Parts: sequence; C-alpha cells; structure tokens
Amino acid sequence: MMRTVDALLSQGRVIEPPSAFREWAWIRDERLYEEAARDPEAFWGRVAEEFVHWFRPWERVFEWTPPRPGTSPPWFRWFIGARLNVCYNCVDRHAQTWRRTKAAIIWEGEPGEERVLTYQDLHREVQKFANVLKSLGVRRGDRVTIYLPMIPELPIAMLACARLGAIHSVVFGGFSAEALRDRINDSGSRVLITAEGGWRRGQIVPLKRNADEALAECPGVEHVVVVHRGVMDATHVPMREGRDHWWHRLMEHASLQCPCEEMESEDPLYILYTSGTTGKPKGQLHVQGGYLVSVAATQKWIFDLRDEDIYWCTADIGWVTGHSYIVYGPLCNGATTVMYEGAPDYPDRDRWWALIEKYRISILYTAPTAIRSFMKWGEEYPRRHDLSSLRLLGTVGEPINPEAWLWYWEHIGGRRCPVVDTWWQTETGCILISPLPGVTPLKPGSAARPLPGIFADVVDEEGRSCPPEVPGYLVLTRPWPALSRTIWGDPERYVQVYWTRFPGIYFTGDAAVKDADGYFWLLGRVDDVINVAGHRLSTMELESVLVEHPAVAEAAVIGRSDEVKGQVPVAFITIREGIPTTTELGEELKGYVVTRIGALARPAAVFFTAELPKTRSGKIMRRLLRDIAEGRVLGDTTTLADPTVVQRLKEMYEERYGEGS
Ligand code: PRX
Repeated sequence: MMRTVDALLSQGRVIEPPSAFREWAWIRDERLYEEAARDPEAFWGRVAEEFVHWFRPWERVFEWTPPRPGTSPPWFRWFIGARLNVCYNCVDRHAQTWRRTKAAIIWEGEPGEERVLTYQDLHREVQKFANVLKSLGVRRGDRVTIYLPMIPELPIAMLACARLGAIHSVVFGGFSAEALRDRINDSGSRVLITAEGGWRRGQIVPLKRNADEALAECPGVEHVVVVHRGVMDATHVPMREGRDHWWHRLMEHASLQCPCEEMESEDPLYILYTSGTTGKPKGQLHVQGGYLVSVAATQKWIFDLRDEDIYWCTADIGWVTGHSYIVYGPLCNGATTVMYEGAPDYPDRDRWWALIEKYRISILYTAPTAIRSFMKWGEEYPRRHDLSSLRLLGTVGEPINPEAWLWYWEHIGGRRCPVVDTWWQTETGCILISPLPGVTPLKPGSAARPLPGIFADVVDEEGRSCPPEVPGYLVLTRPWPALSRTIWGDPERYVQVYWTRFPGIYFTGDAAVKDADGYFWLLGRVDDVINVAGHRLSTMELESVLVEHPAVAEAAVIGRSDEVKGQVPVAFITIREGIPTTTELGEELKGYVVTRIGALARPAAVFFTAELPKTRSGKIMRRLLRDIAEGRVLGDTTTLADPTVVQRLKEMYEERYGEGS
C-alpha cells in the first residue's frame, strides 16, 4: 500500500505525551537514546543484564561479518558464550517470588469460559508438559510444530519446548491442511501439537481434521498431542492408535519437576514462517539470548509495562506479534497477559470493549485493520462500556492512516492514552521503530523514531541516505540482538533477500520517508508482498496455487487498496482453451485458494481475461494491473507486447466496479 507522502506530511499534527506519562513512565527522557548512540554494544550488554537472568555471562557482546553470497551462518552473534533458558526467565524466576500468585495469563474463550493461570500454575503446567514432550522423545534441537487455537495450552507448549531447548514452529490455526503440511515438512518436526478444534465467530475451526489431512503427507511426524478444547465430544475425534495422544491423558501421569536446559545464547528458539516474494514461505530462525533481550526490553519501554498492568495484545500467537508481545515479552517481565480466543464481533460488535471493562485492561495493542472495522461499526459499541482502565494504546502490522489513529485516540483512549505506532517484521523479532510514550511527541500516522540501539535509515537506489521528505527504502545499518539469524534450511535465500540489495545493510522491503524532525513515515511494501488485514501474503504464493487449478492457464495477483483491510488480493486469470469463464468458476477459484492457503488469502475478486499484459520478454506487468485495480490512470505501457490487452482489461474492470473504484 503506497501512501502519498504529501497527504501524510500535510497532517502536521503533534500530540505531546500526557503529563501522567511524562512524570511516571519508565523512560522519561533521552538518556537511553544517548547511551545507545555512544556505544551500542555496551548499551545492549547493559540491557541484557537488566532484563535476562543468565546462567553464564558472555565473553563478548557482539561480533559480525555482513552476510555475503556464498557464505554461511553465523554472520552475527550476540552475547557470545553466554547461557540462559528462556522458559526460566519467563516462568521459573517469577514463580520464586511474590509473583507466584500473580496472574500470568488471563484467558477467555469465545463462548465465554475463563481461565486464570498464575505464575505458579504456569510453572507446574509447563514442567509437566515438558516431561510429556520428553516422554515422546523430544530432545534439545528437535522441532515441534504447534497448531492450536488461542488457548493457554499454546503458550504452555511453546514454553515447554523452550525449557527443553526444542525448537517450536507455531502455525497459525487459520492456515489450511496444505500450508500446515509444508511447514511441518520444511521444519522436519517429529511432534505435532493440536486440538480437536477451536471457536471462531460461533463456528468450529476443525484443526484436528486439517492436521489429519496434513499428516497423510508428513512421514516424519511420530506423535500427535491433541488438546481437548471442548468444541466436540472426545468420542467424535478420530485418534490414530500409537500416534495420537490426548494432552490431558499424558498430563495425568507427567511428573511435576523438569529441569531447564542450559542453552547457548545463539541456540535456536523457534522457527516462524512468513510469506516472501516467492511461492515458498520462509522459516525465520530466532535464537534464545538476543531475541529475549530485545523483546523483553522493548516490551517494557514501549508499553511502559508495570506489575499492576493488565496487558492485552489482540494478535493471534500464530503470528510474530503474538510470539513476542503476548508470550515472551510480557512473561519475561513478569506481567499479566490476556488471551482471547475468538472474533471481535461475537456475539456482538462490542466484545473487545466488554473484555476491557471486565478485566480492567490497561494496555491494548492491536492492528489498524481492527480499528478501521470498529470505526465503520460506529462509536456506540465502545460507548456501551467503561474503558477508563486503559492508559496506553498500541498498533502494529500495517501503516495506520491518521483518521484511524485519531479515532483510536479519541473513542478508545478518551484522549488520555498515548498511541504507540510500532513498526517491525517477523524477521526483526522485536519492534524497531516506535514512540516511547513518556518521551515522544506523537504524530498520527508516523511510527516516530528508531528505538535506542536501532540504526535505521531511508536510502535511495544506490544506498545513499535520502534527505528529509524524500522517500526511499527503509534499511537497518547494523544488526540488533533479535534479528532473525537465517532462513531455516535456506541460508542463501536469507543473504539474497535481505543483504544483497544493499550489501552489508539489512533491506526491509518497505518504503519510508523521514520528515525534518527525523520521524519515519512508513509507505508500504516495495515488493510482491501484500498486507491483508495486517497479515503478510505473497502474491506469488497465490499465483502458484491458482495455476495448479486445472482450469487456469496463467494467473497474476496484485493487492488492491481496501478501506478496512488495508489491501485485498485481486486475481487476473487466463483460462485453458474450451473452459467457460463463469461466475461459478470464479467462486471455485476463490475457494480453491482458501483450501490451499487459508481464509486470509481469499481473493476479493477474480477477473478472467484472454491475455495478461506482458512485456516483450514475457514478464507479467503487475504494475499495470495494480493501476487498473486502483482505477488509476494507466502508467507507461510502451514496453508492452500488446498494449490493447491492458486497455481491454481496464474497460472490463470498470464495467464491473465503475470508474475509479
Ligand atoms: O510492511 C510492513 C508492515 O508489515 C510488514 C511486516 O509484516 P509481518 O512480518 O507479518 O509482521 C507484522 C507484525 C510485526 C512490514 O514489512 N508493518 C508492520 N508494522 C507496521 C507496518 N507498516 C507500517 N506501520 C507499522 N507500524
């Protein structure tokens, strides 16, 4: 979603941090920025001591040689030689203090069930489940895939893996059987953890059924642990003898104590798949030490997290936001983190506001797409509830338009809660660009400045720093502790995607512009990645699925702007000879994408065309398709093999959607 720079910069509005924040926030001045700028290594070393308990100190804080083609990892290492256990940091150390009786996780299911796990409860459950995993043969370095709804067993399973040094790979419950299969096989998981199902908008999400379908082509999986979520009677769930085990049965016999493995700082913690510019998702590999340090620190600085807060991040743990800012960040800080299983409009459009009122939630972290839905539904829903417990708001996942920002500030935050717009990525592990609520004057629509210890810039095609107000590519000039170390099983691709465009510099794939005050304004992706309701999708991934349908000859997918979701996928299709292009076929293709990837990838529209616009060398010109879908004046068509193709397509599009739609 490329936003126009002028429209953004002309907003020119600045909101000073409310005085309550200036006076009481953990971070109240520029000292942290200054410390980090003076000596970034010493800074991260100091932060690592503050936030994490280490079993053994490091010999050196940081070492690196920029990734180059033909070289292999490790390219950079943080806290070299140090040892820690992530689960120990997130659970054990709090269970040894007064926090043992503090709520670690407050959970609510979509039908309304409640569960509260104290740090002591979490300690017990995690140890027991770690013993279960051990009994299934899981050892340090083994991969475990987790395909669960938003229930407490999900963080319990992640933390149990971390305790043993096993590498978890969480797959979002909205992904299809096939997407799950590919991720299980790519990671080489021996164990899968799932549930019979979950709830979403009153419907059952059939996780076990998807898992069974996936497992038919996952020869490496030896054991499946199935949580009985309670969406159906256990007797209705087919369990394969010897392979499938009920979570609760295994837990009955599991012993209560399980020691923590002492892990090296650079040992892997998890793999998380994200869409790239090709059809194949990339498994980002995050490591133990650096990841935890950055996530814990940013959690406290940006959300001003305190012991008395009730903190809610509305993401699904299947995405990086949930990994970092529902599980590891809050728990490492000994905070109370809220998990909600279901949809925001079930049973009514005020469900979130009811949750905030009920649990007296003080910090809310969500996505612009959700805010835009609430705007559309109207203020009456939040107005039904007492939201006075809120003191801080955050957003993530896509650029936030100033209108949505101001609506959030006014109708949810009552003009007293700072709004932190946080920019980051699955690869970056932690937030990199964000205001600090007690320090930074807020500009609606801008993610403000790079955090202390983060070195970001906006550069031109040649990698030269752009002056203020000139848009360019967003890059990071030095690694930070949480940056993903490689792509699982494909280090070459890691080098090629992130480190080759500008040698020695991390390329984000985003465009941005800095203003005269050094504030960053994010302008959207510059590659074939689209952002649908804050979820990252590759247009290539959709295309490669579509061309596998027997009726499809060629497919081109682009992202079209959408008022609520930011972007939606639109497919242009040429059909094989002799097959009629009916509305039914269009619907079938949309459904085909859903079964192959998941509901989030469903195309908003499918257009049939006799030909796709191509260059003389046969490359599909997606830029022109984007122009058509956005109703823009057509860009340069001189390189087209047949300029009439695109004109015909434009006419067809306008017939369906009206001009300029
Ligand atoms: O384009 C940027 C957008 O989301 C991309 C990263 O997507 P993903 O790896 O799925 O992680 C999302 C959650 C961290 C980025 O390349 N993006 C994320 N946050 C923002 C954003 N764009 C603008 N403003 C943001 N605050």
